[in-house]
Amino acid sequence: MSHFLGIDVGTSGTKALVVDDEGVVVGSGTGHHEPEVPRGGWSQQDAEDWWPSTTAAIASACRDAGIGPEAIDAIGLTGQMHGLVALDQEMRPIRPAILWNDGRCEPQCHEVEARFGIERLVELTGNRMLAGFTAPKLLWMREHEPEAYARVATVLLPKDWIRFKLSGVVAMDVSDASGTAVFDCRNRTWSDDLLAALELPRSWWPPAAESPEVVAKVSSEAAAETGLRVGVPIVAGAGDQAASAVGTGLVDEGTIGAALGTSGVTFAPTGSWRATPDGTLHAFCHAVPGRWHLMGVMLSGAGSLDWFRHAVTPDLADDTDAFEKIEALADQAPAGAADLLFLPYLSGERTPHPDANARGAFIGLDRRHERAHLARAVFEGVTHGLADCLDLVRGTGVEAGIVRLSGGGMKSRLWKQTCADLFRTPVVTTTTTEGTAFGAAILAAVGAGRFEDVPTACTSWIHETERLEPGPDADILAARHEVHAKLYPALRNLFPAIAGSASTEGSTS
Ligand code: XUL
Repeated sequence: MSHFLGIDVGTSGTKALVVDDEGVVVGSGTGHHEPEVPRGGWSQQDAEDWWPSTTAAIASACRDAGIGPEAIDAIGLTGQMHGLVALDQEMRPIRPAILWNDGRCEPQCHEVEARFGIERLVELTGNRMLAGFTAPKLLWMREHEPEAYARVATVLLPKDWIRFKLSGVVAMDVSDASGTAVFDCRNRTWSDDLLAALELPRSWWPPAAESPEVVAKVSSEAAAETGLRVGVPIVAGAGDQAASAVGTGLVDEGTIGAALGTSGVTFAPTGSWRATPDGTLHAFCHAVPGRWHLMGVMLSGAGSLDWFRHAVTPDLADDTDAFEKIEALADQAPAGAADLLFLPYLSGERTPHPDANARGAFIGLDRRHERAHLARAVFEGVTHGLADCLDLVRGTGVEAGIVRLSGGGMKSRLWKQTCADLFRTPVVTTTTTEGTAFGAAILAAVGAGRFEDVPTACTSWIHETERLEPGPDADILAARHEVHAKLYPALRNLFPAIAGSASTEGSTS
């Protein structure tokens, strides 16, 4: 019996899963680490903290599986994307890693977008220069920490730092490299032109391999620390979104994903290269060789419900079943929430409106409305946002025949049905509960030769569990979606004043 280890280096901890030959998760473990917020809008983390949380996660996953770490046969890595791990000549971290949710380099992004134009950037990389992405963080360092910048010799992403600790090998994969803003996603290679124009040395960026490729082996030092066998293969792995897509079987064009965690992600695999000319959707390499994906990221998905719980139903705030109770409350109101609409831009927005000044709103309040209508409007407002992203995907010519739902928010029946109604497609859920680390374990299994390729592994290990069709409320919600679509354009120019920002520019986040 073989065992595959999937390791997910997340923002608030590392998760490890042990998966057996048949795709059964036989053990899971976590290790804790915390981001540091030295100022509002900043988010950083000492890369050295990820190693102890990873060794702890590996040990507890193996214990949970009832095996010793020496029984692991292949390793797949995934993790939070975009984080800048800047290293010196001796491969020592120069400063705390600047994470995906750190907005400090927004001015540098504006400068680059003004200099090149968004269309040219999309031509070079497929994407805009967004403040979450990696390269503009180096531009920030060049301006604000010139001495530290002068010592940079290598740039890695979070999971790749863990690969270095496990093996001493410096490598990246194409899906994670896509989120650096200097990767030519269409050609799956670094954009030499953009790197040269930004004066970021090409030598800093490691080779970017296809995700299931074996690129490293466990070193004797790491074996001594973890109990893993010397020489166990480590595949290139993937960024967390691509790995989660693999873990829920989103590998073929036409199978779209909608994930409701704190954020709301719409994920569309594509069999050929496609990007939106204005960069509204991220266009990245998929973890499946020769495939890509489009992605919309809403900053406040199920996070909107969390806000609702604290702000509107504080009586439920401490209940362990608060979300079920809010869902039951929302169920008391009719579809369309008696003409009440909710905009979920509680943390600004990334897709479909890249605007850090955007703010949330209830619109259309009248004397009929009670808490139940507010709750229903929140469920529907978030789903209108996902439907906006899906409309953008459809606009590129990708068919959305079926949508696979994942993430904690999708446990709600109301949310699932609202998705089917607003997307105008059947929606399905799958057997996967731990998509991201499971996706990394699938990549390890493919790299180890258990399967011929990633799609074959997904077909064999992931199955649909439930299917919902659009129901009788679909027409009401379609009519509400037309009104929803007009709200952001109507409010856009007011948002900077509402958000208390002097800037009138739409900003990236
Ligand atoms: C993707 C993104 C997040 C991070 C952290 O673009 O910003 O998914 O990878 O999870």
